[in-house]
Amino acid sequence: MNETLVEIENYGIIPVIEIDEIDHIEPLVNAIMSGGLPIVEITMRTKAGRKAIEIIKKRWPQVILGAGTLLSEEQIRFAVDYGADFGVSPGMNERVVEEALKLNFNFYPGIATPSDIERALNYGINRMKFFPAESLGGLNMLKSLYAPYKHLKVKFNPTGGINPENMASYLTFEGVYAVGGTWIAKKEDIKNGNWEKIKESVVKALLISKKAGKKTK
Ligand code: 3PG
Repeated sequence: MNETLVEIENYGIIPVIEIDEIDHIEPLVNAIMSGGLPIVEITMRTKAGRKAIEIIKKRWPQVILGAGTLLSEEQIRFAVDYGADFGVSPGMNERVVEEALKLNFNFYPGIATPSDIERALNYGINRMKFFPAESLGGLNMLKSLYAPYKHLKVKFNPTGGINPENMASYLTFEGVYAVGGTWIAKKEDIKNGNWEKIKESVVKALLISKKAGKKTK
């Protein structure tokens, strides 16, 4: 298992960030880091997403930097060129997966069905985002999806509707390697500069993760 994945699995949390203003990057990353989490996933669905990836890699090389919402081969190339440590997509898109594999990029596609899982497995991928987790039926659905593939060492990253109330139940399930989501740094908190609140939500999430058996430092 590569170092990036080991760290993601140790912390068990991927904060998904939608950034609109370049000026928010510095205080936001500082808030997340000072809460004790060196992981951020910047989604590429906002205009500022690319610039944020570029800035974070230069300014905080120690951060485990993810690029999210990767929907095209070009976006995969961008993420690799700008030093993202991992990439994520909401769906299982063959063209995107093939580009990531070609460039030896840590890439976790989204899955929602057994067929999606099998298409990812065809590429040798065994870490996948389960998205949108809560709308798909939450932990019950995930348990049903996991059962037939457990022997292949598949693990999932539930994202979509994760919050401090339900994250522990996901993290204590053996088929989950990390939870992800925007609850740590909500759009309105970023917009309003609520950096202390964001830091507190990191601290709280790490406590829950530790209680659930993760090796958070
Ligand atoms: C994502 O991009 O992974 C999702 O938008 C996260 O879902 P959430 O906002 O429900 O956490």
